[in-house]
Amino acid sequence: MALQQKKLTKPKKKEVPLIETVRISIMGKNHDVPTGLTILKAMESAGYRLVRGVGCRGGFCGACATVYRKAGDFRLQVGLACQTGIEDGMFLAQIPFYPAPKPVYNIHELSASAETMFRFFPELVRCIQCNTCAKVCPQGLEVMRYIAAAQQGDLKRLAELSFDCISCGLCVSRCPAEIAHYHVGMLARRLYGSHVLPKAAHLHTRLEEIKTGYFEEELDKFCRMDKATLQRFYSQRVIESEEEDVPLRKSNGDKD
Ligand code: FES
Repeated sequence: MALQQKKLTKPKKKEVPLIETVRISIMGKNHDVPTGLTILKAMESAGYRLVRGVGCRGGFCGACATVYRKAGDFRLQVGLACQTGIEDGMFLAQIPFYPAPKPVYNIHELSASAETMFRFFPELVRCIQCNTCAKVCPQGLEVMRYIAAAQQGDLKRLAELSFDCISCGLCVSRCPAEIAHYHVGMLARRLYGSHVLPKAAHLHTRLEEIKTGYFEEELDKFCRMDKATLQRFYSQRVIESEEEDVPLRKSNGDKD
C-alpha cells in the first residue's frame, strides 16, 4: 500500500483590516482617530465624553458651534461640530458659547414695524455689509440680507430669510457691528406670526379640542403602543398643507 504524504500548506495569516487614521490635536494633545469622522465624533473617539454643547447631532439644534484651525493655516474657522469633518493636522479647542444680549418682551404689546426692530436692536444701524455673518452661517442663510430687511422694516422678508436659523450664534461670533442676528430673526418671526399672518382657524379648533380633553383617551393608547406600531402611525400621519387653511382630520386614529 503506497502511502501518500499530505502536502502541508502554511496557514494563511488572518488579514486584519487597517483603519486609516488622521492626527488631530484636541486642547494641545495629539490623537490618532479614524478618518471620515465629524469633529464631534472624533472627540468622542479620542475619549471625551460630551455632556454639554451637543444636542441633536444632525445640524438642527445649533448647540455644537465650535472653532478650529487647519494645518498650516493661522485663521480660525467656525462650524458645527456635528457637521464638520476632521482633517489631518486639525487643531481643536474648547471655547465658551457665544453670549448675545437677548431682549425680553411681550410680543402682544409690540407692533410689527421697523421701530420695534430698532428699539430692541439699535446696533442694526452699525451693519457695514461685510457679509461675514452669511459666510460663517452653517445653514447657508443670507444673514446680511435679512439684516437689511430688518433695517427696512420688511418683516415678511426677514421672517422668510431667517426661517431656517438654528441659533448657533456663529454669525454673532464674527460680526464687527455686534449684532445678535439670530435674536433679530427670532423677533421678526414672532412679530410676523403674531401680528401679520392670518390666524389659522383649524389650529384654534385643535387647541380647543385639546383643552377639552378630546384626545386624552387616544394619547393614552399611543403611550401604550410598541415602537413599530407607533412608527407606522407616525409615518402615515397627515401633514398640514402650507398653502391653505385645511381642516385637520380628527386624529391619526380617526376618532369620529
Ligand atoms: S448637535 Fe445639534 S446642531 Fe450639532
